[in-house]
Amino acid sequence: MNNYLFDAKYKQQNQLGKGGCGSVYGGYRRADNLPVAVKYIPKENVVWTEKNENGQQLSVEVAVMLKLQKEKTSSVGKSAPVSLLDWYDLNEEQILVLERPVPAVDLSQFIENNKGPLQENQAKTIVKQLVDAVNHLEDTNIFHRDIKPQNILIETGSEIPHLRLIDFGLSCFTDKEYEDGWFYGTEKHAPPEYISKSIYEAGPATVWQVGVVLYEMLHESLFDSTKFLKNELKIRTDLSPDCKRLLKSCFMRTPWRRPTLKQLQIFKGVDSTQPAPS
Ligand SMILES: Nc1ncnc2c1ncn2[C@@H]1O[C@H](COP(=O)(O)OP(=O)(O)O)[C@@H](O)[C@H]1O
Ligand SMILES: [Mg+2]
Repeated sequence: MNNYLFDAKYKQQNQLGKGGCGSVYGGYRRADNLPVAVKYIPKENVVWTEKNENGQQLSVEVAVMLKLQKEKTSSVGKSAPVSLLDWYDLNEEQILVLERPVPAVDLSQFIENNKGPLQENQAKTIVKQLVDAVNHLEDTNIFHRDIKPQNILIETGSEIPHLRLIDFGLSCFTDKEYEDGWFYGTEKHAPPEYISKSIYEAGPATVWQVGVVLYEMLHESLFDSTKFLKNELKIRTDLSPDCKRLLKSCFMRTPWRRPTLKQLQIFKGVDSTQPAPS
């Protein structure tokens, strides 16, 4: 990459990760040493919004992150989605400069570092924060579409892990048409309604993905919707009743039988102060 404007402002360091769309490097902002993450996305992987009245087009990832920043209420402390600090549209690629929480690891690494499933209490703390975060997205008319451990960062600076959301590369606005028969997200985590009928809706699909995250925190094996539906993956029988109920309800085959994201906030096992739903 030869981008003098970027190089003048940022110092890039080691690679932090690589997903299905781009490569991400750590670095910092030269002016104030702020830690940043630099995400390179090849242009063929960029999804664009429609042109606005000035003929301008943003990538959906940028448009979604800008909207989230606009909606941020300073009174509720740090919001879950990391901030977009800057971006560059080059001929071959797009570069996003993102907030990099320190110290933090993505949730898949966090699980791997644990060398086995997490303690139920720790998994519950994380899932509660996840449920709050995806509720905030729903309230903002944003559908992430790819909630999974690799797209969640866990800040590990304090005793209680703190969740942040990353990777809005496949997300979309739910107040616009978003269903086109194609599954944007991780195929192995697709909800049954997509597998059987190629349809899915934001709320129930997100609840399924919350279940996937909880499942992967509590089991040795990675989740796979097809295997789960064929009964080749089982929910651990030694989990607490609340936890089993929560997983089973997120994994209801029929989308409208799953709890809504709002109901998940008061689900026993997510919120220990509430009674279990009947
Ligand atoms: N802001 C960030 N801070 C720290 N690590 C990050 C950040 N963004 C991404 N990463 C790391 O890079 C990986 C890939 O980033 P992601 O945005 O998910 O790319 P992709 O769209 O290709 O999946 C993540 O799984 C995570 O490990
Ligand atoms: Mg990703």
